[in-house]
Amino acid sequence: MTSTAQEIRIRPLSELDISRIVAIDERLTGVYRPEVWERRVGYYLRRDPEGCPVAELDGKVVGFMFSDVRGGEFGLEETTGWIERFGVDPDYQGRSIGRRLFESVRGHMTRHEVATIRTLVDKNDSDLAAFLRAVGFDNASLQALELRVAEPGVRG
Ligand SMILES: CC(C)(COP(=O)(O)OP(=O)(O)OC[C@H]1O[C@@H](n2cnc3c(N)ncnc32)[C@H](O)[C@@H]1OP(=O)(O)O)[C@@H](O)C(=O)NCCC(=O)NCCS
Repeated sequence: MTSTAQEIRIRPLSELDISRIVAIDERLTGVYRPEVWERRVGYYLRRDPEGCPVAELDGKVVGFMFSDVRGGEFGLEETTGWIERFGVDPDYQGRSIGRRLFESVRGHMTRHEVATIRTLVDKNDSDLAAFLRAVGFDNASLQALELRVAEPGVRG
């Protein structure tokens, strides 16, 4: 039987999810980085697990979306909800799991009086942008600028 979106359970992040998130990230990026995710999950658990839903199918975590609510950054006085990291296991993509994770984040942010939800994506990553546009994002008036001050992998 093919699984449907109805069988997916969306729930807040827990410490026990780290290993599945590491595995999903490894499938998406080809890089195994448990220490990185241990730190990140720890950070989001301290900040707000409710703003970081995971999607579970038959007890297995198959997707996650980490977000944070902040205000007063970059001269933006309004409360902003930042979507920072997300991913759906490639075996489970195309089943509205990403959309359901986003709807959960959006509901959480609305309850926290967020005025605008923002995120940054690499211009070369058209898949991520297509997903974000499909769930309602549009071009922003903010422009991302950067200045490289060290070679990649070189710590200052
Ligand atoms: C982007 C991503 C989250 C989408 O998850 P998903 O569960 O497959 O998405 P959904 O099935 O919920 O799709 C929601 C909408 O986005 C659209 N969409 C998703 N991926 C798309 C793509 N690559 N191109 C065009 N549209 C896309 C779907 O068509 C759907 O639109 P609809 O509802 O209007 O039909 C998933 O593909 C992913 O994890 N990508 C890699 C992310 C990554 O690299 N993260 C780095 C580690 S943090």
